[in-house]
Amino acid sequence: MSITTTSNLDRFIATHQKSRELWERSLGSSRGIHHDSRHTVPFQVYTSHASGTRKWDVDGNEYIDYSMGHGSLILGHSHPTLVEAVTRQITKGSHFGTEHLAAIEWAELVCRLIPAAERVEFVLTGTEADIMIVQLARAYTGRQKILKFSRQFFGWSDDLYVGVIPPFDQPLPGRLPPITDDAVTNATVVIPCNDDVAMEKALAGKDIAALFLEGGGAHGGGICMPPELVRKARRLTQETGTLLVIDEVISGFRWSPGGYQATVDVTPDLTPLGKIVSGGIGGGAAVCGRADIMELLNMKPGDAEWNRYRRIFHNGTWNANPLIAATGVTMLNIIAQGEVQPTAEATARKLTDGMNRQIEKRGIDGCAYHTSSVLHLHFGKCRKCDRTACYDVEKSTPPEVINALHWYLLLNGVSLLRGTVGWVSAVHTDEDIRQTIAAFGAALDGMVADGVL
Ligand SMILES: Cc1ncc(COP(=O)(O)O)c(C=O)c1O
Repeated sequence: MSITTTSNLDRFIATHQKSRELWERSLGSSRGIHHDSRHTVPFQVYTSHASGTRKWDVDGNEYIDYSMGHGSLILGHSHPTLVEAVTRQITKGSHFGTEHLAAIEWAELVCRLIPAAERVEFVLTGTEADIMIVQLARAYTGRQKILKFSRQFFGWSDDLYVGVIPPFDQPLPGRLPPITDDAVTNATVVIPCNDDVAMEKALAGKDIAALFLEGGGAHGGGICMPPELVRKARRLTQETGTLLVIDEVISGFRWSPGGYQATVDVTPDLTPLGKIVSGGIGGGAAVCGRADIMELLNMKPGDAEWNRYRRIFHNGTWNANPLIAATGVTMLNIIAQGEVQPTAEATARKLTDGMNRQIEKRGIDGCAYHTSSVLHLHFGKCRKCDRTACYDVEKSTPPEVINALHWYLLLNGVSLLRGTVGWVSAVHTDEDIRQTIAAFGAALDGMVADGVL
């Protein structure tokens, strides 16, 4: 399948001239993007501003947005209550170099809402939260190895950016080489996605510090994880002395006020949180977990041996800074009411129902589905999907189709994060959904006419 210059592509280029100029300018000082997921051919679209469910680019094109801060904006862009919180705080100072009340309130809210959170420690990003958890797990168990399923993503650290991109048994460039026979990178053991027999076998060796999993499934539920497998993981990790980590960087506060873990009633030992926890302003994430594990971060006055050789060190200029803490508190107080989650999920259902009608009408192989309020699109054959959840670990949409869908949708006024993933917020309206479904149909027509689908 090759994508050639078409009248649609010409139209895209003609209506995005200022973006094209900025793209060319950006290449003089960088690779043009600052996150791999934003890579788009023929060029990036540059946003000038956003509000609610809409955003506008530098050429004046308007989009219904589903990239939604990579999943952090469950209340849409610049929600007035959050803007008020951040504005109020910035006039009082953005960084005190000391602790402050908002950080306490923020921690108290996390502990109240997330079942695993007996204690919490704030960091800056989901990647950092996962890094700290690796350190805590190794120090707590005295074991080195980390276990994960292929395809699941836990940030871009050496230990965890492993088995995400096929072939799953090969390390990425620039990473430490394996230090054990069964590890792919450093000491991370990767087992096939959702393979419970492989999980059982790997844990039976009783040498794994932590099993990491994204409970809703890889890529925010793009490949769903059966809840019974998560329950089995809980039982087996308890029996084998391994810590269970449920990564809730995406699912935390979105699946429910208590995250994914509350929906399946499985309490992990440790949980990283990101995105929504920061109030969508950015630069806020958290590690939470059992008090006896989190205690490894404590300083013990007078205990030199503990302080130097046992405890986990933690620094970070922006940790729990007042701006993010104030916004995080405001966001979590709204989240705690439990109304935004079902609203966003019901809207996601309307959207995927409508998108599936558009796909079916054209006889295209593919589907739209949602896990909680995360939208997923797949084109091609799928063997284990009932259009609500997809368990096909082999499926993959060709990268050129993903790229094309991205700009065909932009051309029709809809913005996803890449072509196949989006986040539905609690403020997307029925009119947004109606327009998006129509735009999706028009994008499909263009792709069929141009031979992309
Ligand atoms: C499940 C999961 N864990 C960790 C991360 C890393 O978070 P961050 O991008 O804040 O570093 C992500 C990012 O999307 C994620 O989806």
